[in-house]
Amino acid sequence: MSIIVTGSIAWDYLMRFPGRFKDHILSDQDKLSVSFLVDEKERHRGGTAPNIAYNLALLGERPKIVAAAGHDFEDYRQWLESVGVDTSHIAIHPDEFTATFSVITDLDHNQIASFHTGAMARAREIDLRPIARNANWVIISPDDPAAMVNHTAACREVGVPFVYDPSQQLARISRDDFMHSLQGASVLAVNDYELELAKKLSGLDEAGLLTYVQAIVVTRGPDGASVITREGEVHVPAAQPEAVVEPTGVGDAFRAGLLVGLNAGYDWETTLKLGNTAAVYVIERIGTQNHHYTREEFLARVRENYGELPALETCCRRSKIED
Ligand SMILES: Nc1ncnc2c1ncn2[C@@H]1O[C@H](COP(=O)(O)OP(=O)(O)OP(=O)(O)O)[C@@H](O)[C@H]1O
Ligand SMILES: [Mg+2]
Repeated sequence: MSIIVTGSIAWDYLMRFPGRFKDHILSDQDKLSVSFLVDEKERHRGGTAPNIAYNLALLGERPKIVAAAGHDFEDYRQWLESVGVDTSHIAIHPDEFTATFSVITDLDHNQIASFHTGAMARAREIDLRPIARNANWVIISPDDPAAMVNHTAACREVGVPFVYDPSQQLARISRDDFMHSLQGASVLAVNDYELELAKKLSGLDEAGLLTYVQAIVVTRGPDGASVITREGEVHVPAAQPEAVVEPTGVGDAFRAGLLVGLNAGYDWETTLKLGNTAAVYVIERIGTQNHHYTREEFLARVRENYGELPALETCCRRSKIED
């Protein structure tokens, strides 16, 4: 029995333009045709599914990714296997590129970005049901929009508890798709800005949303995280990062801690503490899968921030026998 992670798989290309976009883009021209000579390029492993799964593996789980990738995925796949992520349910499409996120940043930190869906568009062809039948928990994170709708329906049909994590897709999803996906979720996971979007989109307040979902987990950046249920709200302040280098991926790391807590059946306070602690490691490094810790280091970090917790004795052991 395990945790299934669905979501995007992407290569992230980060480039630096040693100038200012505004010096090259003239507002009075009808046509735009510009080329920026970039002097730095890095390729990072990205996508919400591997980001969440990588953190789950650090936390002692053996998560299964269910997602779609392309012909340029093999070295990424091998690396995920080497850190303890089960990639056997990833659909590889040899005729497609893996989704690609490209961003050029200039000296003023302005960005020009693109996201090529590639193989991710084929995630809608995946039938999650046979895999979800043997799972404890599923998280549905940003992916091909049709795939997300299908996956939430599959979880309801099979009766497996799921976390619905629409994140940035809340800005463009239809109300129907949102309400449909939310129905029957155990947890809606959002940041504070996305909670406002979710309320606007649904026309419901927190109490209204809680007629569709059992709990709303809200991350609040440096202010930590809260959970809102029909019983009320529990808030846990953030853990302390050693340095704030680059926050991309904090939300995904938080979700790994959240899933560990849910899977173990811990109380909300403990669960949010695990999420907050898993998140701070990501802020301290560039890239979303470049941090590392052992079980002992993680538990020590939880204790440093929150004191001794009864759950820590058994938490995050790498002893799970897989089916
Ligand atoms: N500066 C910070 N210091 C400590 N913890 C932080 C900080 N920023 C974020 N976190 C932790 O990460 C969690 C998620 O952060 P946040 O609410 O910013 O997510 P997000 O907006 O979804 O981020 P992203 O989508 O960029 O990954 C927070 O609940 C908190 O635990
Ligand atoms: Mg986010």
